[in-house]
Amino acid sequence: EKGGYDYFMLKEIAEQPKAVADTLLGRIGTDGRLTLDELRIPDSVLREADKVVIVACGTAFHAGMIAKYAIEHWTRIPCEVEVASEFRYRDPILDGRTLVIAISQSGETMDTLMALRHAREQGAKVLAICNTNGSTIPRESDAVLYTHAGPEVAVASTKAFLTQLVACYLVALYLGQVRGTKWGDEISAVIRELGDAPRQVEQVLQTMEPVRELARSLADARSVLFLGRHVGFPVAMEGALKLKELAYMHAEGFAAGELKHGPIALIEPGLPVVVVVPSPRGRSILHDKIVSNIQEIRARGARTIVIAEEGDEAVAPYADHLIRIPVTPVLLQPLVSVVPLQVFACELATAKGHEVDQPRNLAKSVTVE
Ligand code: F6R
Repeated sequence: EKGGYDYFMLKEIAEQPKAVADTLLGRIGTDGRLTLDELRIPDSVLREADKVVIVACGTAFHAGMIAKYAIEHWTRIPCEVEVASEFRYRDPILDGRTLVIAISQSGETMDTLMALRHAREQGAKVLAICNTNGSTIPRESDAVLYTHAGPEVAVASTKAFLTQLVACYLVALYLGQVRGTKWGDEISAVIRELGDAPRQVEQVLQTMEPVRELARSLADARSVLFLGRHVGFPVAMEGALKLKELAYMHAEGFAAGELKHGPIALIEPGLPVVVVVPSPRGRSILHDKIVSNIQEIRARGARTIVIAEEGDEAVAPYADHLIRIPVTPVLLQPLVSVVPLQVFACELATAKGHEVDQPRNLAKSVTVE
């Protein structure tokens, strides 16, 4: 059932182009507009929502962090994202005009379930983004947008994460469509590019051999840091989470701009630092800033592992290892930039002799609070 792969995780990483394609299927009309008929929340409610609150745990929380960038940019609705376990205990401000999005692969995560129950008690509408048909979280929500990743067996989430991102982008774009915000060329281009994501993810998967080799060479590292900006920041956190859970190694993801506020003290000669570089197009100011960050850490002896768009030559002089990803719209980059980080963690953990499908102390679905 592992389809010729040694581990479910490898199989599931390889299945990502299909998982993304299946999650898009039937949701982008031939006219380039979105049809999310399954959303039982009436358009009028979506039009009147004055705040979006995303709750989720772990990897799903990272998808939510990325969704925030997309929702606020494309719809101009204020959006908060919070780990579900913190949410209800601080008495959050919710009412009938709050749209809560609960993201969960399993649909059974107790922290997320308790958060959404709390939100509904306060009168908020809850939309679940979920991979498991008929599970508790969608049953208790007002509406559900299913991801179609297929069953995810490996404990560490990979294909479910990519499909959560796709679902978040679809919801963000749909909110924009219903509310008429930023509707025009930019959005049409994004929808087209989203349709191209399966091919781009496949392209990344075809170029992973050097990443595997690099991961094996780092099996004895004590710690790995991950840096990113904008949507690359949650991607950095996700890369660190994968490494912690699979390789049992100290890893941390930072916003690259925070480096100088503390974490730069951690940099010592030979420390591997993975940097997710935003596109040089679009918000190019961020690109310039991250290039300086790479220079700073390299000057202090870090071994820089740089994930950058094809054609981005500015980073090349400062990269000890350069991993190329396809050119995408700025907000969609996580769909391709996270893939090398999944492969990296999986390979590094395997090189250390760990069982990647069943990491110690972890369960696939966490049904206690
Ligand atoms: C990490 C991982 C976990 C889950 C988290 C939420 O690889 O898989 O962090 O993302 O436990 O699980 P779901 O999405 O089932 O609610």
